[in-house]
Amino acid sequence: RIVYLNGEYVPEQDARVSIFDRGFLFSDAVYEVTAVLNGKLLENDGHIGRLVRSCRELQLTLPVTPGELEAIQRELIARNQLREGAVYLQLSRGSTGDREFDFPPAGTAPTLTLFTQARPVIDNARAIKGIRVITLEDIRWRRRDIKTVGLLAPCLAKEYAHARGADDAFLVEDGMVTEGSACNAWIVTESGTLVTRPLSNDILHGITRRSLLELAKTHNIPFEERAFSVEEAYNAREAFISSATTFIWPVVNIDGRAVGDGEPGPVTRALRAIYVEMAL
Ligand code: PDD
Repeated sequence: RIVYLNGEYVPEQDARVSIFDRGFLFSDAVYEVTAVLNGKLLENDGHIGRLVRSCRELQLTLPVTPGELEAIQRELIARNQLREGAVYLQLSRGSTGDREFDFPPAGTAPTLTLFTQARPVIDNARAIKGIRVITLEDIRWRRRDIKTVGLLAPCLAKEYAHARGADDAFLVEDGMVTEGSACNAWIVTESGTLVTRPLSNDILHGITRRSLLELAKTHNIPFEERAFSVEEAYNAREAFISSATTFIWPVVNIDGRAVGDGEPGPVTRALRAIYVEMAL
């Protein structure tokens, strides 16, 4: 792969970052993942807008304009001939050549890295068959609205899920589902209403989530933005997750209990079809 590092396009093995980089030492970095379909960036304005917000919340300065950032993303897609997958981008606070908790002096160069990932998004087995999740306590920090690379808790959640024969986890706080390990969580009630948690610092403000709510509005699918309990998820008619890397994947089993009849449900399948149609 050809990757991007601080102004240069280089083969991945030649991209070198200091061991003192604050992204490496403190997870002092933010990131975004934009889906790529037919070689085109999907919902990139949303992702770059959220990056700008994450930077503002952490007093990080973007070294390029949003327009320049998109040009870099496009250049990487072209150089790697990416058709389907994602572009990952990360901005860290850089390094002062030592380990110091205090923010480095103004003018310290941040580290901007981008790379592509080729992955099937449309013909993905999990999108068709659905996934199994387990519920786990949400042990993340209280600013989940900021997309930082401090992702140890979600890595642990995935690992625990895999060890228990599941694909992913629904994270739970005070009996209510917050989101998935790297995705937003949804259920469909008995009456066919979509339910997903409202925006707050408790969850990442998903770009896919936002689009799905807009699509639900235009297609007259009823929805409610409210927290739902684990019990309600067990008894839901359908459940699914959303993110840039999955779009929508049905959740067919929670903690060993089948959701509905244990197959991807009609509302979930319809919403995925509407989203894919919009994306293509
Ligand atoms: N994850 N919630 C969390 C905790 C996430 O990490 C993500 C995205 C989402 C969905 O957001 P969006 O629809 O904007 O992708 C929700 C990305 C894909 C990742 O970490 O790879």
